[in-house]
Amino acid sequence: MADFEVLATAEEVAESGAAEIAEALRGGAKSLALAGGTTPRRCYELLAELDIEWGRVAVLFGDERCVPPSHPESNYRMAKEALLDRVLPGTVYRIPAELGPDEGADVYAEVVEFVAPLDFVLLGVGEDGHVASLFPGHQALRASGLTAGIHDSPKPPSERVTLTLDIIRDARQVVILATGAGKAEAVARARRGQTPSGMIASARWLIDRAAAGQ
Ligand code: 6PG
Repeated sequence: MADFEVLATAEEVAESGAAEIAEALRGGAKSLALAGGTTPRRCYELLAELDIEWGRVAVLFGDERCVPPSHPESNYRMAKEALLDRVLPGTVYRIPAELGPDEGADVYAEVVEFVAPLDFVLLGVGEDGHVASLFPGHQALRASGLTAGIHDSPKPPSERVTLTLDIIRDARQVVILATGAGKAEAVARARRGQTPSGMIASARWLIDRAAAGQ
């Protein structure tokens, strides 16, 4: 069953997330899938300041929007600015989502097949309980492959590439960050095993009091 740790503030969630990733990487984890969105940015900034042998690490992404990597909406661009330009991992496997959902997913599936099982997957969670670009009720939740192309994301932009639930569930460690009152409903539903984020039984959640509904 998923484990939920409630921390006082969003800053403490970011600090704890960075510490968990650092501990995993220092312990030999070699593949790290980064989350997109806005929540993880502070975690990445703090992670960039920690002493880690990044040359051993392959960085992947949980999902990507179908925009150029230089686009303000790009998850890769956010991670590059906050972390990857500062630590220089041995390998960065960017999702080429600018190729479009289907070709981007096909290309990235070859990468994931080579790297899986993933050692550490970091995720955020949407207010509807989605993780990566796996949305409640979406057929991609039942995708059997390693990646999926999304054409109708309810969260703009509509076209994305995502890891599948199977690949996320197979990871050795999954940590989900959730901060702010807007995520309280998603956290509550996940605790009940509902929504995609609630379908990852091994996940460790790092949430602040607001996301815990306190
Ligand atoms: C994306 C993200 C998505 C994100 C959640 C939470 O590409 O949009 O991967 O899954 O993690 O929507 O987003 P925030 O952290 O911005 O609330």
